[in-house]
Amino acid sequence: MNTFRESFPFFSGNRNELSYFDSAATTHKPQSVIDIEKRFLSEEYATVNRGAYSMSAKASQYVEDVRVDIAKFINSKIPENIIFTQGATSAVNLIAYGVEPQISSNDTILVSILEHHSNFVPWQELCKRTGATFKTVDISKNGTINYEDLEKKLKTHKPKLLAITHVSNLLGSVSDVEKIVSLAKKTNTLVVLDGAQSIPHMTIDVQELDIDFLVFSGHKIYGPSGVGVLYGKTKELSKLKPTNFGGGMISVVSKEQTTFADLPNRLEAGTPPISQIVALGEAIKFVSSIGMEKIKNYEEVLFNKLISSLRELDFIDLYGPINEGKKQQAIVSFNLHSVHPHDVATTLDAKGVMLRAGHHCAMPALKFMSLPGTLRVSLGIYNTESDISNLVDALKYARKIFSK
Ligand SMILES: Cc1ncc(COP(=O)(O)O)c(C=O)c1O
Repeated sequence: MNTFRESFPFFSGNRNELSYFDSAATTHKPQSVIDIEKRFLSEEYATVNRGAYSMSAKASQYVEDVRVDIAKFINSKIPENIIFTQGATSAVNLIAYGVEPQISSNDTILVSILEHHSNFVPWQELCKRTGATFKTVDISKNGTINYEDLEKKLKTHKPKLLAITHVSNLLGSVSDVEKIVSLAKKTNTLVVLDGAQSIPHMTIDVQELDIDFLVFSGHKIYGPSGVGVLYGKTKELSKLKPTNFGGGMISVVSKEQTTFADLPNRLEAGTPPISQIVALGEAIKFVSSIGMEKIKNYEEVLFNKLISSLRELDFIDLYGPINEGKKQQAIVSFNLHSVHPHDVATTLDAKGVMLRAGHHCAMPALKFMSLPGTLRVSLGIYNTESDISNLVDALKYARKIFSK
């Protein structure tokens, strides 16, 4: 029995029968996260950084405490390197607009073809605005980053910036970040790591990885939606031009000119998502209290079981690096022979099995792999072996329906 599941009220009563396999899109919330946000909104809610009254000071302290907790969670040197955003998407956009004055038409921006649209389109748009060249790194036919192609493109183009995913939301491919950073360093290329799909499943140590930026979303790590994180090295964050202007990010405003606050406020204009930040702090406490190593080990066992169960079904095609013995975690894409993934997903839904079908915001990768779309199973810590049995039974049922 999975005791983690008991912490999630979604899986109580009849809903315990449901098999939720869409954690890569968004995760359910543990009771403690729901309780904290409810308590804060009911009893302690106040604005931050502005009020002169004690409740506002306390709310401000809560937010700053979460900043400290997140800094510790990813081993950021100082909490000022943590910027609260609305999510991974807004964090990538914050970098892409903020870095713009450093980019000229002679520069190249390199991204992998595996990226979620959120870590692809903002860079494409940056290149359009600046005249810089947009280049992509290839993947193998199973979705592993092609490190030879990466090395070649780094050497040839000496890009200003490389944006790359840690774990692919389409295929679960795990990038070798140490290797990527060591290659990028040779050409002085900034590395933006998309941690949206790695942060809930493994320890991330930003100092050890030596990345320049990391982005992730709160709602994919058992926290609320509407809040995310941009981590950056002090040197790089300081160079980002603020792109949102308003309250909270200024030092002095006059008719003639405005000066901006120091980090992190400089990049956090306006009232932040206060209760969501408080609840994200609780989500970080929740996973930390279990331990990322324990989460990783639990999910690894479950993932291996999932893959071996799917491999036993001779009517599906399985995609992903695992086909070539490479690292893959928590996410797998597949298709039923000659059945559209949307039709399969609808049939599985009727059996209480929830998974995602379609392009998963990764159209360039799908095109590269000549696939129109996939079914995607993604795991969270509440999933169990019995979920996998339900999935297999539902897939067999779908197979029967569609072979008629
Ligand atoms: C790899 C990856 N990057 C970025 C995002 C964007 O996250 P959000 O929509 O929370 O901003 C997602 C969301 O699915 C993702 O999977």
